Amino acid sequence: MSIQSELQSTIADLVVKGKGLLAADESQPTIAKRFKEIKVESTETSRLAYRQLLLTTPGLGEFISGVILFEETLGQSTADGKPLLQIAVEQGIVPGIKVDKGTVSLANACGDLVTQGLDGLADRLSDYKEKGARFAKWRNVYTISAHNPTQLGMDANAEVLARYAAICQSLGLVPIVEPEVLLDGDHTIACCFEVTEAVQHSVFHALHRHRVQLEYMLLKPSMVLPGKDSPSTASPEEIAEMTLVQLRRSVPAAVPGINFLSGGQTPEEATRNLNYINTMAGNAPWLLSFSYARALQQPVLQAWQGKPENIAAAQDTLYKRAKLNSAACLGSYTAEMEKE
Ligand code: 13P
Repeated sequence: MSIQSELQSTIADLVVKGKGLLAADESQPTIAKRFKEIKVESTETSRLAYRQLLLTTPGLGEFISGVILFEETLGQSTADGKPLLQIAVEQGIVPGIKVDKGTVSLANACGDLVTQGLDGLADRLSDYKEKGARFAKWRNVYTISAHNPTQLGMDANAEVLARYAAICQSLGLVPIVEPEVLLDGDHTIACCFEVTEAVQHSVFHALHRHRVQLEYMLLKPSMVLPGKDSPSTASPEEIAEMTLVQLRRSVPAAVPGINFLSGGQTPEEATRNLNYINTMAGNAPWLLSFSYARALQQPVLQAWQGKPENIAAAQDTLYKRAKLNSAACLGSYTAEMEKE
């Protein structure tokens, strides 16, 4: 298969109306933090047990078109020798992988962070692809403060994100481009709007300079929200409206899909806001969906508690949240559905 048709078929498998992505790609420190909340020690065995639980959820493929895995999971198999990645494939879920190596402070940029991981990326990607990954994810983070993000921070981050995306496409892997504007802070929704617009402009400018084919990538943005310590709140209509206006101003119509991250919203908020976005999207050119980690997994971790006897209940919880978010993609979610 040519690179072009590989990219095309992965996009066709990922961008499906009523389906979204499960982000299960927490780095070792992040998964340790999530497990600590339920008093489970993070070991290779506990991480395998948990991620096997996620991927073997009966019927998950009805609502989830792709899963983002962490490098370790790509090499893990069940006790009877089946690779975890194979379980995803058998569920009709496309396996992908997080390929960035986290953030470091960007010198002379007032505390802005920059994401690293470009060195040796092409070799790593070839290896992941051989193991069965068909898409990749790279996350940039932008903090809002009186001084951040700086223009330098935005430019430097956009450049690495675009280089990553170009390398992915040259090897036939669909890049998920994730510029996350963090929820931390006491900023207003108007401020988040302005920053998110500036960030996405810098990203699409860099993608253009690096000749990334927009038809074969997905955008994973944060929604436009007030900071979590902001004294002002915003209604779901306001969040949806501002998010849509911002996206229309920044994201070319050639991009096939936009899969939001949840970013610290509660599971219910993330579902409700996605539903409003879809009901208000009109004839938006992109499919608007989800790529949630916490908003899908938080209730699952709570139900699991690290105990084998809770696996079925935890899987029921994941199935339910995936189903509710699928409804939100269709604009047919209602709060009553939470009680079913
Ligand atoms: P959250 O949905 O928890 O924000 O995570 C999404 C993600 O993949 C962050 O990189």
